[in-house]
Amino acid sequence: MNRTNVIMVTALLALGMLLSGSNARAQEPPKMPYVFEKNCFLCHKSPERTGPIGIYDMRSKSGNPLHEQYIRNNVRSGQNAMPAFRISEVNPKGLNAIVTYLKEMAEYRKTHPGYKPTPTE
Ligand code: HEC
Repeated sequence: MNRTNVIMVTALLALGMLLSGSNARAQEPPKMPYVFEKNCFLCHKSPERTGPIGIYDMRSKSGNPLHEQYIRNNVRSGQNAMPAFRISEVNPKGLNAIVTYLKEMAEYRKTHPGYKPTPTE
């Protein structure tokens, strides 16, 4: 590789990092998927909540890390006051969107601790 090529490759790498999604995501709050707004947000809401809001930090009520599979099982089986959701209510794609959203929200709230999740207009 000659010198010009090295400079070009370096410039392209820098541009790629600048444009990459992870960088954009750290700046803007993740968009709440409609499936979450419709089925989950009514309870998992601050301050008038019945469901814990630790889920937005991927934390359980007891402060332990929430695992993706635990969220999936919870949505399908319910937990105490939380109802179970059927495939017709939350389909597999919707459940993926919910898990992605909660993970991105937890990342976002690391740098924006006071941010309150709100529906996207
Ligand atoms: C009717 C209100 C209600 C709705 C609707 C609801 N939840 Fe919950 N959720 C709760 C309550 C209450 C708990 C805590 C249950 C308990 O005390 O064991 C909970 C617990 C959870 C937990 C486990 C947290 C922990 O600390 O163990 C997750 C994850 C969760 N909900 C996600 C969701 C998702 C995703 C949806 C939408 C598909 C949803 N919830 C819809 C009320 C609700």
